[in-house]
Amino acid sequence: MLKMNLDVGNIRKDFPILSQKIYGKSLVYLDNAATTQKPLSVIQKINKIYTSINSNVHRGVHYLSQLTTNLYEETRKIVQNYINASNSSEIVFTRGTTESINLLASSFCRSQCCKEDEIILTVMEHHANIVPWQIQSDIIGIKIKVIPITEIGEVQLENIEHLISSKTKLIAVTSISNVLGTINPVADIIRLGHSYGIPVMVDAAQSVQHMKTDVKLLDCDFMVFSSHKMYGATGVGVLYAKENWLDKLPPYQGGGEMITNVTFKKTTFNKLPLKFEAGTPDYVGVIAFGEAIRYIESVGLNNIYCYEQKLLNYATEKLMQIPKLKIFGNSYFKSSIISFLVDDIHYYDMGVLLDQFGIAVRTGHHCAQPLMNALGIDGTVRASFAFYNTKSEIDILVNAVRHITSIFRAKQKVKTQFY
Ligand code: ALA
Repeated sequence: MLKMNLDVGNIRKDFPILSQKIYGKSLVYLDNAATTQKPLSVIQKINKIYTSINSNVHRGVHYLSQLTTNLYEETRKIVQNYINASNSSEIVFTRGTTESINLLASSFCRSQCCKEDEIILTVMEHHANIVPWQIQSDIIGIKIKVIPITEIGEVQLENIEHLISSKTKLIAVTSISNVLGTINPVADIIRLGHSYGIPVMVDAAQSVQHMKTDVKLLDCDFMVFSSHKMYGATGVGVLYAKENWLDKLPPYQGGGEMITNVTFKKTTFNKLPLKFEAGTPDYVGVIAFGEAIRYIESVGLNNIYCYEQKLLNYATEKLMQIPKLKIFGNSYFKSSIISFLVDDIHYYDMGVLLDQFGIAVRTGHHCAQPLMNALGIDGTVRASFAFYNTKSEIDILVNAVRHITSIFRAKQKVKTQFY
């Protein structure tokens, strides 16, 4: 039994943006699956870098460059420890989850796939884990196979096994759906993939900030995630890959620092992971990312998981009491994301009106149109919680949804009477 020890009142003081008023009302920020807010320690770190140590990394012998390089490489170690990778050279910094998947799709398909080879995805993938493979499909002729989901939004292992063939080259799945909140059984999927000799990529953009991640225990071949969803700055992401894979894969982009020697005849590439980091990286964002991970660790991932599960259960119970409200995604293992619609009220109207209450939610297809098609809808309202959210914020959301719904119902009644 995990014991929770979380002082949300004090935690909220670390996030200056949360004490803001929107239209004269206290901000209720429930759009954490899109991006998280930043603690003061991260903001101060960015400020400190620009005011006192700014200098390009891996390029200078001077004091400031050495300092920034050390901090940059220190963050690589922080990330390595955070996900329990074997070596810091397995951590490639990118611009975000999207770039990490584009890198992998390009380098993997170019070197490992032929025409007619197959990649398996789930129907609940974010566009970032669909479109890069489709681009490779156009170039190389690979085929994409799609794992369906059950009514409550779960993938079943039998469904995956049916899709595997001798042509399957990779399985790429999200660990948590950004729409349904489903926590996928990635450990089982990886075991299954490996039993057929197929590598597995995990899109952990919605999970690394909520629960403990251990790439060694999972034995995944690749993992991708972003700093900005982990209380860090925008513009920084990670591609984790087992060293033997990084050795095998060709570079994604060419440019400065990813080489050892360049002539017009031939270029040789730098050691890992620099071979995959062409050009000046967002070293300020990377160093601040290290600070964000320190913050998460100071709160404690077990505390975070337990507390967010409480928020999820409380919000689910309260929202379900609203007549004609439907929640999309009712998996047994679920993260703190609730997608819903009320009756025939358009998600856009609901989102705009919730905004008037100072409540920030995301509306629309959430960059998951194939999932929307499978659900037979074109969008939802999505509330996603972080450890700085509170039950009273959920009460504000629930009361606002009730209020908006009653206005729509009253209007509907007048319309019916009139016509
Ligand atoms: N992928 C982010 C979301 O689901 C932006 O909102």
